[in-house]
Amino acid sequence: MSNGSKGIIKRTEAMVSERLEGNSSGHDWWHIDRVRRAAIEIARTEKGADMIVVELAALLHDISDWKFNGGDDKAGVGLAREWLISQRLGAGVVRAVCDAIADVTFKGKAVRTKPSSLEGCIVQDADRLDAIGAIGVARAFAYGGSTGRDMYIPGEGPREHPTFEDYRKDRGHTINHFHEKLLLLKDRLNTERGRKIAEGRHGFMLEFLDRFQMEWEGKA
Ligand code: ADP
Ligand code: NI
Repeated sequence: MSNGSKGIIKRTEAMVSERLEGNSSGHDWWHIDRVRRAAIEIARTEKGADMIVVELAALLHDISDWKFNGGDDKAGVGLAREWLISQRLGAGVVRAVCDAIADVTFKGKAVRTKPSSLEGCIVQDADRLDAIGAIGVARAFAYGGSTGRDMYIPGEGPREHPTFEDYRKDRGHTINHFHEKLLLLKDRLNTERGRKIAEGRHGFMLEFLDRFQMEWEGKA
């Protein structure tokens, strides 16, 4: 990586970690850092991925999430674009990073969001891998708690969300979130490497849900 690229990565890290400071919903700096590392790992196994675009897109993918900015799912891309232009990056890189983060977010079971570029597919996989497995379990309850959701309500099963709007408005308990999103992710990954990593993480969530139910019912 050139000195210029290292500089822009360092400055982007600093800007992002400052913006996300104090976020206890599972969208903290460490989420960004894990996604960045996973994205780089996946990118190494995908021919033709532009590493700088992957790393910048991973760093910038959550700077403004629709869940915390009043529901605007485009604001993050705008902020990322402003930032990259302020850093004097060329138009091609700016466009590639913005394209890569535009469709990363999950918008409900019925809304397919496959990014248009390889770099976008890689960052989406890395982001989704961080939503499953043991870390995924921890983040789901952190997010649920931070938004006042119940952990579980017996008898209230998962819901269908035909549109992004339905998904966005849902206030259901956190166990439902596993059925409405987290257990669906392994079949929505874009890369071979992503699918491989997802296997163990998916199995762990199934085990967790089984035990949760057994303990809830006093059977374990
Ligand atoms: P994405 O990166 O696809 O946009 P989100 O930002 O929707 O993912 O989710 C970030 C984290 O918050 C994930 O770990 C996710 O499981 C968790 N989360 C999102 N919505 C809920 C919810 N309704 N209940 C519990 N956890 C949630
Ligand atoms: Ni994310």
